[in-house]
Order: sequence, then C-alpha cells, then structure tokens
Amino acid sequence: MSLSIALTKGRLEKKTVAMLEECGYGIENLKDKGRALVFEDTKKDIRYFLVKSNDCLTYVEHGVADLGVVGKDTILEGGKEYYEMLDLEIGKCKFIVASLPDIDLLNKVGHIKIGTKYPNVAKAYFNAKGMDVEIIKIDGSVELSPILGLCDGIVDIMETGTTLKENGLVVLDDVCPISARVIVNKASFKLKRQEVMDVLKDLERMVKQNAAAHQ
Ligand code: PRP
Repeated sequence: MSLSIALTKGRLEKKTVAMLEECGYGIENLKDKGRALVFEDTKKDIRYFLVKSNDCLTYVEHGVADLGVVGKDTILEGGKEYYEMLDLEIGKCKFIVASLPDIDLLNKVGHIKIGTKYPNVAKAYFNAKGMDVEIIKIDGSVELSPILGLCDGIVDIMETGTTLKENGLVVLDDVCPISARVIVNKASFKLKRQEVMDVLKDLERMVKQNAAAHQ
C-alpha cells in the first residue's frame, strides 16, 4: 500500500529531507523542488507533501497523510488525535520564558501579560505556577512585544539565543526542550501497519546512527 508523508516546510525541511536521503529514499524531487508541493518518491511507493507545521497535524489527523514530521512545539500547542511515534532528534531548540532584564517577571505579584505564538503552552506554564496571566497571541517577531510595552514577557522558541540577545531580552526559565517528531494517523497505524513500521524503523536507525556519530 502506498504511503503519504506530510513534511513541515521551513526550518525543519532540509534536515528532514537529509534524513530521508540517508535512509536511502528517492527524494531527488524534494531537493530540487521549485514551487511544487507534492512529490513522488523515485524509489518507494511514497508521496510527500510540504506543509506548514499546524497543517501537518491537520493532514495527519484527517488521514490525508499517514505520517507527518513536525516540531514538538506544534504538537504541544495543537491537537492530539494521532500517535507520536519517534523523536528524530533534529531541529533541537527549547521553549523559554524571557523578558527585559529589569522586570522580575516570575516573582511579580498580580496580573501579568505574556506575548506568545503558543498560547496553550504559555497558559499551561503560568497556570502551573498559580500566576494570574493574560495571554496575548502574537504571530511573529514575538520579541518585539515586551520592547514595545504590549506585555511583561514572552514564551517563545529559542534556538541559538541570538534573537533574544540582539533585542536585549534575557531568559528567565526553560519551559521544555523541543525537537522534530514523527506522528502517525491512528487508522493508518492499523491499516498500513507494515508500511508505517518500515518507515519508522528506517528513521529510527538513522537517529541511532547520527547519535553514535556525535558521541
Ligand atoms: C523563531 C522564534 C525566535 C527565533 C529564535 O522565530 O520565534 O524569534 O526563531 O531563534 P534564535 O534563538 O536562533 O535567535 P522565526 O525565525 O521562526 O520567525 P518568526 O518570529 O517570524 O516566527
């Protein structure tokens, strides 16, 4: 049976495609893609879609894609109607809480405002601390929001830390680590179990191989 795999475009894309190539998959079309969004594997009965991270969850949840590769950040923020099967250990970064240096945000008594692209993650973090938080949804360049006085701090992704540093913000706490995960549609896991397991095993082998190479 043929498989469909939704890949998250952008930051994760290159690393995911490289991993599939290491597995011996026929991903030439994905490497030389132009503006195309659907790609046939040249060696296996697999079709790939390139989609935005949130859409990756949606396509897998609806079974249009049997598998998806997506960041743990998107998984934590989004739905849960799929199986999370494998940590690819690529695209590593973390969720952090940050603010301008002169604000003692985590010890502040009373109402605080937090800007974030990830309202559910931010709310869960501050609720667990019993803090009175108002979440303000920001779609990009979240670091701007405390600088412009829209909020007291942010919950965002940090990879190198350069964006925070260049904008004068400091990390107050780590929320949790993030990396790319493979998710599987629940029905596909039953109906195409062999094909799905074959892909998972190939990818798992590469995860182990990459980990050994970095030791
Ligand atoms: C992400 C994140 C930070 C930045 C962190 O944004 O929201 O702004 O990357 O990376 P760094 O620690 O390596 O500096 P992204 O570049 O995805 O763009 P966006 O702000 O428009 O969402």
